[in-house]
Formats: sequence, structure tokens, C-alpha cells
Amino acid sequence: EVMRLANKLVDEGLLAHDEYIELLANRDDEVREYLRSVAQEIATTNYGHDIFLRGLIEYSNTCKNDCYYCGIRKSNDNIERYRLTLEDILQCCEIGYQIGLRTFVLQGGEDPYFTDDMICEIIFAIKEEYPDCALTLSIGEKERESYERFYEAGADRFLLRHETADGEHYRRLHPEPLSLENRMRCLEVLREIGFQIGAGFMVGSPGQTYDTMASDFEYLKKLNPHMIGIGPFIHHKDTPFRDEPDGTLELTLFCLSILRIMFPKVLLPATTALGTIDKIGREKGILAGANVIMPSLSPDNARRQYLLYEGKVGVKDKAAEGRKILDEKLAEIGYKTSTTRGDYKGWNRK
Ligand code: 5AD
Repeated sequence: EVMRLANKLVDEGLLAHDEYIELLANRDDEVREYLRSVAQEIATTNYGHDIFLRGLIEYSNTCKNDCYYCGIRKSNDNIERYRLTLEDILQCCEIGYQIGLRTFVLQGGEDPYFTDDMICEIIFAIKEEYPDCALTLSIGEKERESYERFYEAGADRFLLRHETADGEHYRRLHPEPLSLENRMRCLEVLREIGFQIGAGFMVGSPGQTYDTMASDFEYLKKLNPHMIGIGPFIHHKDTPFRDEPDGTLELTLFCLSILRIMFPKVLLPATTALGTIDKIGREKGILAGANVIMPSLSPDNARRQYLLYEGKVGVKDKAAEGRKILDEKLAEIGYKTSTTRGDYKGWNRK
């Protein structure tokens, strides 16, 4: 019966709500390996054995939000806050460019210190210096006008995980004023403006059930984003979720395979969190259908303080060494890094 559902997913690219639940609840080794191999084949059919790289620049760990899971939440006093300057950021880009990266991701907490003018200045400066690179923002919820300005300044993509498509679950993860409605509105607005958009969720976050995950798959199917970021929840000792169990490698890999089958062309990262819960988690992610890796370009001291969760990998890597190690690791599983921008197929700037 669970194999029938797996085959239906492969044939039709989606399931009904209760079928997702049944597939998740009854997954066994046979189904896991079947969906993994189909997902890997779909990924290689669309992207070959090329893995796209995105250089992550974590430019601020200051945040006005207080998400219960996140290590840089406002209420965490046990953290040194930092902000990178424009010069710092351009320095990160330079290192990234020299090791062949052609996408930069500006990620940070929702830090009111950075006004829209400042963000636009940063976007403009990066785009002027590196016109052949794509620029992704991962800077949270803003008004439409702000998003429009960022797009006009030259940003190409925007990552904003929806975190969970279930309203009650969303509330368990985020205090007010955050709301699922606004999160979803932001994603719609970003798409309308012309960004390549990325949504996604944590696997194994407190309160998550197969029912909420079914809602995630359904929501993503409706949204049809260009990118989907998922990774295991990992507890952080300075958050209210300090005693909650981490998400598992196994369920994250299973979700990656489902997503690759549902979205053959989507840009799907093997995330840092996946590489944190397992030494070869990212490699396993690629073999389960992922096709993107996002190495950090942040300066050493920033990297140590941008800890959304504990035990984060890559904190000690240098960017240049990081690329070499990555190339070697990927070669071992028969993949190679790509130095192209790696846009979603068919996307063009409006
Ligand atoms: N464990 C795993 N992922 C986390 N994120 C934030 N905190 C954690 C955590 N404790 C993820 C969120 C966010 C992304 C930038 O990092 O999904 O969208």
C-alpha cells in the first residue's frame, strides 16, 4: 500500500493530504530507497552531476524577532551581536568570487539598523563590482515597497522559509507579531515583483506532525517556488526549545526526495543543518535529490556568532579551503561544483 502511494507520487508529482500522511507514517527501507533513487535520477536528468554553489554572507546576527527555535532570537542575551560593514561584505564577495562563486546570499536577522537605503546601497555595490553574479536576499519580512526597491537595486532572488504551513504550528514556533498570513503574503509579493523565490521548513521542529508536513507539501505545490530550503531542526541551548529533540537525518532525506519528485527543476540545497547532524549529511542530501550547497563566506568572528543552532559545521573552515574540501567530497560521490550562477531554468529579470 505504501509502495502504491510512492508510485502515485512518482507518476503524478503530488498526493492528497491524507496520502502524504500515510506515506510519511508508513515509510520503510524499501520506499525510502525507491524514492531516493527516483529523486536522484530526476535531479541528474535536469542538472547532470553539477552542484550549484551559493556563497553565504551572514551580515548581521541582530534580530527584532523572537522565534522560539532560533539562536539569534531577540531574547538571547548570551550572544555577542555584530554587523558587517559594506566593506566587510564586499571583502566576503571578493573571496567568494576568487574561489569561483557566482551567487552571493546576504542573510541576516531582521535588523532595523539596516534601513532600506542601506540594503539598496549594499545590493548596488555588489552588483556594480560583480555584474556577472546573482544576488540573493534572505533578510526576512518587509513591506512591498521595500521588496520593490531591492529588486530595482539589482537583487535577483529572495529566500524566506515559510517554516510551517499550519497556522497553529506556526504560532507554536513564532510569537506575535509574526504570522503565517504575513509570511505567505510576503512570498506572493516577492514572486509578483519578479524575484526567484525560495520557501521551506525545518524537519522535526517542535510541534511538527505528519499532518503539518502534509500541509507543507500542499502549500509548496500551490506556491511552486524556484527554491526550497529544508533542514533538520537543531536545538540551541539559549532558546526555549533547548530540551526539544533534533530533527533526524533520515526524515530530512526522505523529504528531500519527495520534494525533488514533486518539483523536478527546483533548486534544492543540501543545507548546513543537514551537514551538521551528520558528517556526510550534505553528500547524502545530494544523493537524495539536492543540487545546491551554500558555503559560508562570513568572516571568522561573525561565523562564530551566527549560530542559529548548535554545533554548526563550517565554523572553522576558511572559504578557499572550503571550496577545495567541497570539490573533493563531491568528487567522491561522482559530482562536481558548478561555477555558473545557477538560475532557475527559464527565469529572466523583469
Ligand atoms: N535549527 C535548524 N534550523 C534553524 N533555522 C533557524 N533556527 C534553526 C534551528 N535551531 C532555520 C530557519 C530559518 C533559516 C535561516 O534557518 O528555518 O528560516
